[in-house]
Amino acid sequence: MLNKCLFLAGGYGTRFLPATKAMPKEMLPILDKPLIQYGVEEAIAAGLTEIGIVTGRGKRAIEDHFDINFELQHRLRGTKRETKLATLERLVDSCTIAYTRQKEMRGTGDAVLTGKIIVGHSPFAVVLSDDLCLHPSKSVLEQMVAVYEKYQCCVVAVEEVPPELSERYGIIDGTKQDDGTYLVRNLVEKPPASEAPSNLGVVGRYILVPEIFEELERTTPGYGGEIQLTDALGAIARRDKVVACQFQGIRFDCGSIEGFVAATNYCYENLPK
Ligand code: G1P
Repeated sequence: MLNKCLFLAGGYGTRFLPATKAMPKEMLPILDKPLIQYGVEEAIAAGLTEIGIVTGRGKRAIEDHFDINFELQHRLRGTKRETKLATLERLVDSCTIAYTRQKEMRGTGDAVLTGKIIVGHSPFAVVLSDDLCLHPSKSVLEQMVAVYEKYQCCVVAVEEVPPELSERYGIIDGTKQDDGTYLVRNLVEKPPASEAPSNLGVVGRYILVPEIFEELERTTPGYGGEIQLTDALGAIARRDKVVACQFQGIRFDCGSIEGFVAATNYCYENLPK
């Protein structure tokens, strides 16, 4: 049964320094909510209520955010602001959250391996909360869960990316199927435009099957000298099955200043206040 979701939240967020010197990048707010809360809401909406978060040094604010703050509750009781925490409290009540720390930042693959102790031997989703994905009714994870239920294999979310940005993404090589998904033949991490096998870039949403752990244990350092999830998925795609889901909805790369500002403006204009 698919009900687990792992958040990879160990990264440093160097693109946002100095803001992220003492604050986790996942806690940067879009309007009044930290980025990671959008991700957790998306997971829960997709029925993924067992949440695992792979953190690292300097990330304690994430744990505090999803915990009860009795003092604040007490202070707010009976005031106009009392409802401000209610949505978050309901969210926390509707899931369980476990944390583990990545000792060193050795890539997305290493982060997933670190989360093995939480997800165990079950299929699970992975979220990189830098990628903010919005859809008015059916979240990207929900769309991916439907694809997983059909194919019972690893699923990656993809969208078209301009050639000059292929160096920022895992790029798939695949064939479109009748239902609009792609059967993936291979994945390449951050290729230059000239070597990109397509214009379909992976965004930070995955569904993985337990086989990924054995594959990651075999995976040698790749792009940037790190253990890349993309490489392990590529190996599985070459010998077995990986499906890509070109999702409906809008996605912002909140790991970049431009994407973060665009997301803020979009949410200000479009989300209920
Ligand atoms: C990671 C993955 C990459 C993926 C991207 C999506 O890269 O390694 O394959 O396309 O997330 O945001 P990062 O952005 O962490 O460098």
